[in-house]
Amino acid sequence: MSFVEYSEFIQEGDVAIIFLGHDSMMPVKVQQGAQTQTRYGVIRHSKDLIGQRFGTKVTCSKGGWVYVLHPTPELWTLNLPHRTQILYTTDIANITMMLELKPGSVVCESGTGSGSLSHAILRTIAPTGHLHTVEFHQQRAEKAAEEFREHRVGHLVTVRNQDVCKEGFGVTGVADAVFLDIPSPWEAVKHAKNAMKRQGGRVCSFSPCIEQVQKTVEALANEGFQEISTLEVLLRVHDVRSITLPLPDFGSDQPLETPTDTPVPSNASVLCKTTTPPRDMAGHTGYLTFATKPSV
Ligand SMILES: C[S@@+](CC[C@H](N)C(=O)[O-])C[C@H]1O[C@@H](n2cnc3c(N)ncnc32)[C@H](O)[C@@H]1O
Repeated sequence: MSFVEYSEFIQEGDVAIIFLGHDSMMPVKVQQGAQTQTRYGVIRHSKDLIGQRFGTKVTCSKGGWVYVLHPTPELWTLNLPHRTQILYTTDIANITMMLELKPGSVVCESGTGSGSLSHAILRTIAPTGHLHTVEFHQQRAEKAAEEFREHRVGHLVTVRNQDVCKEGFGVTGVADAVFLDIPSPWEAVKHAKNAMKRQGGRVCSFSPCIEQVQKTVEALANEGFQEISTLEVLLRVHDVRSITLPLPDFGSDQPLETPTDTPVPSNASVLCKTTTPPRDMAGHTGYLTFATKPSV
């Protein structure tokens, strides 16, 4: 199993996602002899997981069943242990697209945080790209490096435990794209520029507050970045419901024989699926500021 390649069978040491329902999942590290408790009973790794296909429906000890899914960056974002605030798929999708990431891209990122965005970047740039990720909190940096190894993407990423605002990304002139998710991104803009290739490249900064955006945009403009734009991505997930609608009764197709032939009222109805827009929706997460480094 690897987060950047699909494997068919579950093996010892893999991460699998136990899917109990649309709003209930849990990640497990598959180990010989280990057991995982769920509300449907116990899953025995040796018998129920190892050697089975990813996607298998597994019956737990109390008779309920779960699906065992192959991990993906999307599922990891929903299931990872939170050590910090994280980025979610709505923003991540925009970031990977607008940074023009592709297999082979070299990317610099700070901070690593819980590694939510990092996993998505790694899948996009594999098998030949590289991610340089900088995190100044030592335990977070170590934990992220450990997870990257466990998820078999360690060869695609270098984790540096340093302050990006003071020491930069640890590389010069190599990055196609830079991403910043730190409280003072404007202090890292110079380092972002140094890390980037001479010819162009894209930068993105995520900030929850508009005052942070203002300072970052000013720093980007001062460093000669172009095409500076800020956007906010809001997600509206529609609910699907089944409803029964009465069929209108337009009377008989046949002309009435006599005025006394009254049409029989119809109770006919039809079951349809319909969607409703959400009454509540997730609010503001943050602003995404993008810019392009001009060729020199
Ligand atoms: C909000 S989290 C990043 C979350 C990450 N994008 C994710 O999706 O999981 C911000 C991280 O930046 C780190 N950080 C803040 N300032 C930093 C700096 N100057 N240099 C390096 N890391 C920094 C924090 O320790 C924290 O772990």
